[in-house]
Amino acid sequence: MILILKTKGLKKGKKKREHVTQTSRRSCQPVLASFDEQYGRELGDLWPSARSVLLDPDSWQYGVMVNRFASPNDITNLLQSEGFTSFLPHAHAPFLPDAGSQAIPSSPSPSLLQCFLPTRPVRLPSQAHWPGVLKQFYLLNAASLLPVLALQLRPGEKVLDLCSAPGGKALAILQTADPALLCCNESDPHRKEWLARTLESFLPRSLSNRVILSNQDGCVLGPSEAGTYDKVLVDAPCSNDRSWLYSSSNQQGAQRLEERTALPALQAQLLRSALCAVRPGGVVVYSTCTLSSNENTGVVGAVLASCPEAELEDLWEELASFSGHFTLVRPRCGLLVVPTPGRTWGPMYICRIRRRG
Ligand SMILES: C[S@@+](CC[C@H](N)C(=O)[O-])C[C@H]1O[C@@H](n2cnc3c(N)ncnc32)[C@H](O)[C@@H]1O
Repeated sequence: MILILKTKGLKKGKKKREHVTQTSRRSCQPVLASFDEQYGRELGDLWPSARSVLLDPDSWQYGVMVNRFASPNDITNLLQSEGFTSFLPHAHAPFLPDAGSQAIPSSPSPSLLQCFLPTRPVRLPSQAHWPGVLKQFYLLNAASLLPVLALQLRPGEKVLDLCSAPGGKALAILQTADPALLCCNESDPHRKEWLARTLESFLPRSLSNRVILSNQDGCVLGPSEAGTYDKVLVDAPCSNDRSWLYSSSNQQGAQRLEERTALPALQAQLLRSALCAVRPGGVVVYSTCTLSSNENTGVVGAVLASCPEAELEDLWEELASFSGHFTLVRPRCGLLVVPTPGRTWGPMYICRIRRRG
């Protein structure tokens, strides 16, 4: 299977041939055994399907999020001619004539977010960094757009991305609507640098007064900026099933499993902090890329039980329209995307909570 792609920034604009290669990654047995025990119990019949996808990296797909700030029509036409399909409703909405301008539209505009999915097993190469040239697309697991869509962003809002590096969802936020302010927070200094590089590669300089970087512990940021934001995304540090399954050694896998027990407490702290940061009537979206109920419904349930001002919102109706692409499961709160053969996107857990007005 060969994809021939000719576009700016892909290796000096020359034709780039990308073959689908066989990977030879070995799964980490202690992690797999732990997943078998936990997810077999929690997901029942669905776990063998999810397991088969997680154990077959060659079947993993990448969505292509188009950067509306960098000649989007070029890449869009190219992707369509290569058989990629759009999976978002307003994919052909007009682009802002001057996306980098300071003007903030006062009324909601159709989503500007465009993401294309491959219809055959091809993997686009990432674009090389060229100083002064914005990248045209970002590769991502398409399910990771769902938390951003769940934010229901409107132009002119103040948005906080509490756990932001490497910046995929921050970029998706900026593709979706023009916020008055986007604060991208990341506590790890090295990952914050990575985040800064991502933003620099995709965003025009004219956005720099509306997109700010912060390096705080997300657990304390909320109380220090109480009631500031209309929308807050908590894309929490989590078990990251795809990556943990390919831990570099059994020792690393075992260590991660040990550390796993501490994650729900951190995640709940981050979610409580987000509920402080959001204004009354505003919305917090909590997401992870693990199937683990301890880190998903367990965390949300504990926070809801201790925050009377937090109100759970149902996402099913809103996001069920994507069920053609994703295998969606409805746990006791929120929504879970479970990778299955043919619909390999996920794992992704999404939950929306409104702070009562
Ligand atoms: C799942 S990743 C976020 C991915 C990112 N939202 C994206 O779409 O590219 C979680 C991030 O949270 C960061 N993190 C961990 N503990 C944190 C804390 N206490 N405060 C803020 N960020 C934290 C991690 O370093 C990691 O970069």
